Amino acid sequence: MEAHPSRLVTLSLFIWMASLQFSPMILTKASSCDFPAIFNFGDSNSDTGGLSAALGQAPSPNGETYFHHPAGRYSDGRLIIDFIAESLGVPYLSAYLDSVGSNFSHGANFATAGSTIRPQNTTQSQSGYSPISLNVQSVQYSDFKKRSQTVRSQGGIFETLMPKADYFSKALYTIDIGQNDLTAGYKLNLTTEQVKASVPDMLGQFSNAVKQIYAVGGRSFWIHNTGPVGCLPYSLDRFLITAAQIDKYGCASPFNEDSSSLL
Ligand SMILES: *[C@@H]1O[C@H](CO)[C@@H](O)[C@H](O)[C@H]1NC(C)=O
Ligand SMILES: *[C@@H]1O[C@H](CO)[C@@H](O)[C@H](O)[C@H]1NC(C)=O
Ligand SMILES: *[C@@H]1O[C@H](CO)[C@@H](O)[C@H](O)[C@H]1NC(C)=O
Repeated sequence: MEAHPSRLVTLSLFIWMASLQFSPMILTKASSCDFPAIFNFGDSNSDTGGLSAALGQAPSPNGETYFHHPAGRYSDGRLIIDFIAESLGVPYLSAYLDSVGSNFSHGANFATAGSTIRPQNTTQSQSGYSPISLNVQSVQYSDFKKRSQTVRSQGGIFETLMPKADYFSKALYTIDIGQNDLTAGYKLNLTTEQVKASVPDMLGQFSNAVKQIYAVGGRSFWIHNTGPVGCLPYSLDRFLITAAQIDKYGCASPFNEDSSSLL
């Protein structure tokens, strides 16, 4: 995927908030794509090793097509975040939680597979959802921002492992999360209407996290809409759906209705 300027957005929080409430989206174009670092927040769609570091490595066959071995991603190859890094000319992002071989000179990845916007009331072993919800990721980010500079000031190799202080305001902040908040509701046997009713709370907590990142220095944001949950093979497999609810693309239309209310 090419980083096309019109897809990159530099926006003040005010504009972003406005865009949530009014369609069409009002976004200002970035003047350039010269981002020296990326800080990413999200779930398995952009996890480059966080959950693997915290709770056990993603097993084979993950990584078989591109890395030729498991590489912390729940994918056979690269994720969109990897292509974004490539097109901005920065290295693949190390996971913040990975204490082995990480290099944060051009950013850090706070995403973990199974993350949700809202903290879940179930444990990872009960439900499969990560305890590293978006609010935790934003706390980790502000901790990283502070402590990375203390480490960097020791000089030598540490200077090459941590981002420069001015990278935090110049970086691209990418966020790709929300899909698991929807499926978490289905797993609790909530109706699609009940799930839809919790979307305002999801969006409220999402905007709080963005505000917190903005408050400690983030300025350029790339926010993915959530994908069509009703087209995920596991939604079709695990959740009750009737033949009449399958659309012409073979996807479960009630789940996609919830996805579009989170757009
Ligand atoms: C978890 O429980 C609290 C207290 O009942 C509730 O306010 C919150 O919405 C619940 N979270 C989710 C994700 O259901
Ligand atoms: C960390 O990555 C940067 C950018 O690729 C590189 O210049 C630096 O040498 C790396 N540091 C170490 C200790 O490998
Ligand atoms: C949801 O419904 C299924 C099928 O009836 C049942 O097995 C499961 O225990 C229910 N889950 C919850 C959290 O109530």
